[in-house]
Amino acid sequence: MADIYQPLRFSNLFAVGYHFLQRQFRSLAVPTASYAGRTVIVTGANGGLGLEAARHFARLGAARIILACRSTERGEAAKADIEQSAPSSTVLEVWSLDLCSFDSVRAFCRRAEKELDRLDVLLANAALLSLDLKMAEGYEVQITANVISNFLMVLMLLPLLRRTASKYNTETTVSVVASEAHFFTRFCEQNEPHIFNSFRPGTYMDERYANSKLLDVLVVQELAERLDASSAGASPIVVNTANPGLCKSNLFRDIHAVGQFFVAALTLLIGRTSEQGSRALMAAVDGGRASHGKYVDSGKVEDPSFFVLSEKGKAVQKKVWDELMEILEGIEPGVTRNVTQATA
Ligand SMILES: NC(=O)c1ccc[n+]([C@@H]2O[C@H](COP(=O)([O-])OP(=O)(O)OC[C@H]3O[C@@H](n4cnc5c(N)ncnc54)[C@H](OP(=O)(O)O)[C@@H]3O)[C@@H](O)[C@H]2O)c1
Repeated sequence: MADIYQPLRFSNLFAVGYHFLQRQFRSLAVPTASYAGRTVIVTGANGGLGLEAARHFARLGAARIILACRSTERGEAAKADIEQSAPSSTVLEVWSLDLCSFDSVRAFCRRAEKELDRLDVLLANAALLSLDLKMAEGYEVQITANVISNFLMVLMLLPLLRRTASKYNTETTVSVVASEAHFFTRFCEQNEPHIFNSFRPGTYMDERYANSKLLDVLVVQELAERLDASSAGASPIVVNTANPGLCKSNLFRDIHAVGQFFVAALTLLIGRTSEQGSRALMAAVDGGRASHGKYVDSGKVEDPSFFVLSEKGKAVQKKVWDELMEILEGIEPGVTRNVTQATA
């Protein structure tokens, strides 16, 4: 039992707090790498960091940007906003994607397979933070949206990313937006026989968002290893996690009033704007091979949490991976083969 609480020991909290502040005050350069000719998907592109990242991709010359949004109305407003502020020849398209529905994720990925002739970047930015006791598709809503649906999408899009890399002799990238929050969880479910099923609404809800982001870090590490193993050592698809630091956005809209007050005060003091936060996401997308499987925190590859680096964390990573692959096979039979399949 003792090791469960280890990440929250005072000395660790002090170290984590110190590193958090160090990274939070790191200045982030405006991205300059060209995306000319590239096709990019940004999920949750209608607001916050996703909107600002999409704006950067347009400014940097991407040929086609898919704004993947659960509300196409909000997506269209974001598209008009980008077109007005960053006029370019980029084709912007709003596609419907609701991470709370596996049908929606499957339909989105099938459409991408059918309509996109290439996919260079998948920025899996969309996520939700909730203290509500909600379920979606049989799992706690944040686990469904931030983890299961996210990786259903990633795995379904791997063939297109692989084909693009092969056809255009380039590296393609998947960046999954994680969070510093993954440091701040006891992860009380880590010893449960079935981890995903044990995330029930009502139990440790204050840690659920952090749990979801911790799972994102673990799964990306494992995915990177497995992609390399299936590509004789160097996968043409780079996959990493990105932490933008604390930013002003709508992320905290569903938490209670006291929490909102605390977060508002903290973001007022040290928070980044959504645009500044989006630079950290762009740095992860630009991270290249050096960022493969890594946690890109405020623009630089950094160590993830103590737990992720521990022996126990590595064992849990394998278990989480096995459970997730079983869940994804149940949703979309055959999808897990995309991890190991070579380019067609
Ligand atoms: N803000 C921070 O301090 C901070 C810190 C660390 C990490 N992050 C991460 O950064 C990313 C962007 O967050 P943000 O701060 O920009 O928050 P945000 O303003 O709330 O943006 C989140 C985006 O995700 C979308 N989304 C939520 N649920 C969805 C669903 N079921 N299906 C599809 N899209 C959905 C939202 O769409 P709607 O507008 O329709 O809700 C919105 O476009 C997230 O992954 C977040 O966890 C943020």
